[in-house]
Amino acid sequence: MSATLPFFPPAVFDRHREMTLRAIFDVGTGPDQRFFGGDAVAELERRIAAAAGVRHAVACANATGGLALVLDAWGITAGDEVIVPAYGCQPVVDTVVEQGATPVFADVDPRTFTIDPAAVAAAVTPRTAAILPAHVFATMADMPALVDLARRHGLRVLEDAAVAQGATLAGRAAGAWGDAGVYSFSQFKPFGAIGEGGIVLTDDEPTAIRCRRLRRAGTDDDTGDGAVGRHSRMDEVLARFLSLRWAELDRRLSRKREIAAFYQHRLRPVAEAGVVTLPLIPDSEPWCHVYAIMTDRRDELRAHLAARGIGSHIYYPVTLPMQPAFAAYASGMTFPHAEAVARDNLALPVWPELSENDLAYISDSIIEFFGRHTA
Ligand SMILES: Cc1ncc(COP(=O)(O)O)c(C=O)c1O
Repeated sequence: MSATLPFFPPAVFDRHREMTLRAIFDVGTGPDQRFFGGDAVAELERRIAAAAGVRHAVACANATGGLALVLDAWGITAGDEVIVPAYGCQPVVDTVVEQGATPVFADVDPRTFTIDPAAVAAAVTPRTAAILPAHVFATMADMPALVDLARRHGLRVLEDAAVAQGATLAGRAAGAWGDAGVYSFSQFKPFGAIGEGGIVLTDDEPTAIRCRRLRRAGTDDDTGDGAVGRHSRMDEVLARFLSLRWAELDRRLSRKREIAAFYQHRLRPVAEAGVVTLPLIPDSEPWCHVYAIMTDRRDELRAHLAARGIGSHIYYPVTLPMQPAFAAYASGMTFPHAEAVARDNLALPVWPELSENDLAYISDSIIEFFGRHTA
């Protein structure tokens, strides 16, 4: 049966139809007839820089493009090493390899599933140029420890906050901790849009200037100066849409946080029975992008939920160093925490439109599964 409570939200744009048409109309009938690099992109950049508390925001085609722009702007190239998490999303490593640099994998923390600062410290060599932490589920990477480590070794930090827009740690926004950070606006991100988009955040003016230039073929229109660049630009309709939708962001985030709190409370009995590990979600922080439980009966539980019309999702079932594209960079190495989360995680629906009844049904279906199997 197809899921009646799918993991990914249904028809996400139904109630945004007016907004979508308005964005197209505003841009399409604007006097400038600019479809990229115009006022809507500039306005979105100002909004996001202000919200994140950084001096510069450079909109681009997607978060992958943003990571590439920053690595390029920093001159990261063959011979450099970049320390990356062993668990997570492929673009984190793709962008390093595309620069000709070497990804060096570090294991993740067993509770947050983000790169473990102790593993990073052990991976630093004289060739290390940067650390690339990524926030994944509901607890940000330990940015204070990573920034401190980077300062001590003279390294840069590129913070992949693709899925963490709206998150904070000790009051500072995700994306604002690194020397540069990125957000993604692709559909299922915290502030997804009608297409693909990303943005680079930084306080460092030279980084911002270089990213601006590199996103537009690399060459300065007026002086002809420049470097080999790329086209990684955000389109105006998408930027306009995001500005029209701006007022929704906080409410969406806080509803996801409420949903996470519901699951934490309702699933406590199965956690106390020792059959499930609930995620670590700091009370004071406003973010839960993914609510993933861990269980060694993951596949059976998933099938049980599917039979009850409940969608779930397995995030990154193959660790990054185990993927054929990257295996050569991790020969003979093991990453036990990354392997455990890849093997055991099961993410539950957290889209803001879910009702309390939906959440009770999902939670009780999980409790029922373990009740039946532990009886
Ligand atoms: C942690 C992380 N980094 C980067 C990306 C890439 O984002 P985009 O699709 O905007 O390139 C994703 C997308 O899922 C992600 O989860």
